[in-house]
Amino acid sequence: VESHDPRYSGEKTILMIPGPSEIYPEVHESLARPIVAHYGKEWGHIYDETTELCRKVFRTKSEVIIVPGPGTLAIEMGIVNMLEPGEKAVCVVNGFFSERVLDIANHLEVRTVKASAPEGEIVAPERLKAILDENRDAKALLMVHNESSTGVLNPIKEYARLAKERGMLTLLDAVSSYGGIDLDMDGWGIDYCVGYANKCLGSIPSAAPTAVGPEVWDKVKKRKSKSRTWFTNLEVWRYYMDNWVKIGHPYPTTVNTYSILALREAARLALEEGLENRYLRHRRVAAAFRAAVRAMELEVFPKEQVASPTITAIKVPEKIASSGQAGKINELMASKHRVMIGGGVEKLSGKIIRVGHMGATASSRYILPTLSALQSTFRQLGYEAADGTGTFSMELSKNV
Ligand SMILES: Cc1ncc(COP(=O)(O)O)c(C=O)c1O
Repeated sequence: VESHDPRYSGEKTILMIPGPSEIYPEVHESLARPIVAHYGKEWGHIYDETTELCRKVFRTKSEVIIVPGPGTLAIEMGIVNMLEPGEKAVCVVNGFFSERVLDIANHLEVRTVKASAPEGEIVAPERLKAILDENRDAKALLMVHNESSTGVLNPIKEYARLAKERGMLTLLDAVSSYGGIDLDMDGWGIDYCVGYANKCLGSIPSAAPTAVGPEVWDKVKKRKSKSRTWFTNLEVWRYYMDNWVKIGHPYPTTVNTYSILALREAARLALEEGLENRYLRHRRVAAAFRAAVRAMELEVFPKEQVASPTITAIKVPEKIASSGQAGKINELMASKHRVMIGGGVEKLSGKIIRVGHMGATASSRYILPTLSALQSTFRQLGYEAADGTGTFSMELSKNV
């Protein structure tokens, strides 16, 4: 006998994937407003307010622009402006998303040096230091804060210090940490930082708040070669920021006003909760979730010391992986329990599953049904997973 109504008449699937993540009700409501234009006095005020809120989430005095589109576009924008073709950059690589940053730099004809670690591990700061010392001519260090493909948090504060001591520019992909994991752009010495609207912030996908520091603006001015792009050229953005701000249009093209209205709501909610409270909530929920995973007799993919506060990767038990049934986990979770989780990307496909606990979903309200659905799914596939919900609740009630 099934314990659920198999018809699920209209019930929503909850998004426990590592983004897009669930959105907040206030964000949802902002999407129901009548359409507004992307310029004008009133709009200019809304845009300003949004960038101001985003600056606070970055903890920076630098200017923030809202890059419309995917996070990747804002990362590409950083690289194309910070580095000229033929210049050297060191890229820290330990998973799919950091490999992509490297790939973008290679496409842009940057001479790249890879500081890499196996997936699930971090590059030790001493190793990075040695690599930077061997590459004194490198102009920039490219990094990913939270490697979403493996659920690993990289020690950015230490990496950035090494780079700044050597006079390098620093670029940080904070797409899956922005608003959920401790980030101190100015305190750590990050020159260009890419956040995202719909991961830990709980807004809709489509906008990448991006902080551009003074050293980057300076580099753009002093470049020997002109950047060969237009939309992602910061000089073009500078022109509109300086000259079109008076008509409430400080960017080069039309922007999706709904995505900015939604982002404003989400950033406001993050600050209302308080950044420190928010970071703590993510850390506590993630630690309790990992404890629950272990109680279920499953294995967390990375070591505890480097495990991410927003995404947990879990090893697919050998019994399931070897029978080629790994994909069934995600399939059953979605079809039977209406809980969508992520799988392994590329090399890790079939080897891990990934659960996002970010923004709204970093909460027992979302985690408890996920754990219970995971237990039922594993059992259906012949792996006798124990209960994880009790451990989760117990762990979460500690240190309150
Ligand atoms: C760390 C990280 N960087 C970059 C991206 C790419 O973001 P987008 O798909 O918005 O370009 C993601 C998406 O999951 C991510 O997690």
